[in-house]
Formats: sequence, C-alpha cells, structure tokens
Amino acid sequence: MRVLGIETSCDETGVAVYDGSRGLLAHRLHSQVDTHARYGGVVPELASRDHVRKLTPLIREALTDAETTGAELDVIAYTRGPGLAGALLVGAATARSLAFALERPAIGIHHMEAHLLAPLLEAEPPAFPFVALLVSGGHTMLVQVAGVGRYRLLGESVDDAAGEAFDKTAKLLGLGFPGGPAVERAAAGGDPGRFRFPRPMTDRPGLDFSFSGLKTHTLHTAEASGDAPQTRADIARAFQDAVVDTLAIKCRRALEQTGVQRLVIAGGVGANTALRERLREVAERRGARVFYPRIEFCTDNGAMIAHAGWLRAAEAEHDRAFDVAPRWAMEGLQPPARRAA
Ligand code: KG4
Ligand code: ZN
Repeated sequence: MRVLGIETSCDETGVAVYDGSRGLLAHRLHSQVDTHARYGGVVPELASRDHVRKLTPLIREALTDAETTGAELDVIAYTRGPGLAGALLVGAATARSLAFALERPAIGIHHMEAHLLAPLLEAEPPAFPFVALLVSGGHTMLVQVAGVGRYRLLGESVDDAAGEAFDKTAKLLGLGFPGGPAVERAAAGGDPGRFRFPRPMTDRPGLDFSFSGLKTHTLHTAEASGDAPQTRADIARAFQDAVVDTLAIKCRRALEQTGVQRLVIAGGVGANTALRERLREVAERRGARVFYPRIEFCTDNGAMIAHAGWLRAAEAEHDRAFDVAPRWAMEGLQPPARRAA
C-alpha cells in the first residue's frame, strides 16, 4: 500500500510518499517564510497562491525521489483541516483531481491527528497508550491516546496557543518571523535571572492552559525596560522559560493523572530545544519515556499526512467529499476502519 500525502493547511507546502512495507520513501517541503516575512505573519491569500504554484512541481519531485509513479500509488491523502480555507482548498482540489485521474481513492486527513501520530514515523515509535502534548501555532492540547482515533482531550488552551504566543512575543520584541525560532535564538543569549514571568494556571488544578496573559506581561516588561538587544534577549529568555515551565508542569500532571508512562511531543513548538530537553527530564524523573518526531516533522510537513493517510487508507473508499474543514475538533474522530495489508 503506497500513499501520497499532501499538506497545504498554512504556510508550508509538503508532499511525501509513504509505503506500508518500506516506510517513508520521500518527502519534500517548500516553506513560504520569505513570502510572509515582510508582513510579519501569514497572509492567507498569498499562502493559497503560493501553494498553487509549488504543489504540482513538488509532487513530481517527491514521486521522482521515491522512484515511483502515479500509477503505483494506492491512495492520495491530503489535509482536510483545520487550517486556512483557501490554502486547504488547493491541497484538496489537487488531491481529488489526481485521485480522479489515477482512478484511486482520496482521503481527507485531520492535520492535528497527523501531528499527533508523527512520532510513529521514527525508528523507535511509542506504543499505545501515550499522553501527547500537541503544541502548534493554532492549538495547545494534552490528549490521552489509547490508539489511532481513540483520543481523550485532557486539557487545552483557553485562549492563545503556545505557538501563537511565541509568534506574538517575537513580533512585539521586533525579533522577526517566524516567531518561535526567532525567540529561541534570542533566548539563547538571554540572562535567565533578570526577569521572571508568571506560569499561568499552574497554581490551580486541571490541565488547561492560558498564554495570552504572558504576551501582555512581555509587552509591559518591554515597555518598562527599553529595547537594547540584551534586554530583548533577556525578555525572550524569561518568556521561553515561562512557557517551557508551564508546559512541563502540565505534562507532569497529565502523566500523574493518567498513570501513563509515555509522553509524546508534537507540533511546531515541539521543535524548541529547551522544551524538548525539559520534557525529557520531566519524563525521566518519573521513569517515563519521551518521544518526539525529528525536528523537521514537528513543524508542518507532508510525511505526517502520508503516514496518517496510510493508517486510515481503508476509509478512502468511502471518502467522496470534496470539502475542507477549516475548524475541525479532533475529539470526534473514530478509530480507523480495518484495512487490507
Ligand atoms: O505545527 P506548526 O508548524 O503549524 C501549525 O499547525 O500551526 O506550528 C507552527 C508554530 C508557530 O507558532 C511557530 O512559531 C512555532 O510552531 N515554532 C516554534 C519553534 N519552531 C516553530 N516555537 C518555539 N520554538 C521553536 N523552535
Ligand atoms: Zn501544524
């Protein structure tokens, strides 16, 4: 079973080929960072147009890398949501057209489920059950995962997502776009002792998050302290320490509450080295293990879509809808239908 995966939910065009017996055969990515950088954020219309330009050549390249042809594909998987409607439509239209031309089924994949399952692409994948911390630009969730499609939401952000907080903080410190990596770079030269930011919602029970107050705290600190490069680095450090600490406290609580001994980190913020190291400590101190996708599969990519498409391939026969789901809750997902090998 060979699956082509197409990701176009936001500002990366991703294409990959996943083979059920041989694993990932090829993956290609085009990042739109340069297109959006001067606007300081993703411009949806420009994102859609760039997907239109880049998707077809990327599909050709991925098929060449995988030494395969369209005729050898069994299923075409694409991101159906959540994401930007126009950007999603480019992937959906391309995938459905290709599937129609090749007389193969297509399947619309949930972007956050694909992130959640991305660690299964690695050499030592986590067994079920695990607790997953999903931290992306649009979502911050803790999910108990009993199997594919068997998700229990343990907690989520009541306002901004962690990635969004990184992006806004970078913007107001003038650190550039995309925000996460910019804050991480600045924080590396920051003094951890100069400022201390609050750890929101850690003083009460529960597994929900709130990050919008941290952004305000950053703003006030920046206004009161000036904009010398060292000050900005110190603020970036205080902000990152607060986010990492908050996520770590909630992850520890989630492991405690569920009694689960495996912690999975996925989504763009999972590329943050300080977070990865801190969560490794949290898990190891409890005798638990931590699993992450390689850094390039934390942020958006086609490999996770091809892989999720393979897991859900049997459903493709019945998936005829040409639509997208810009808002799509993950809790409603069901386990995949059984599939022939
Ligand atoms: O998963 P993703 O690529 O796209 C969404 O599905 O949203 O996540 C993007 C988010 C952005 O907010 C970006 O700033 C953040 O992940 N991010 C990071 C890092 N790399 C990406 N945040 C902190 N540290 C990083 N190294
Ligand atoms: Zn994503």
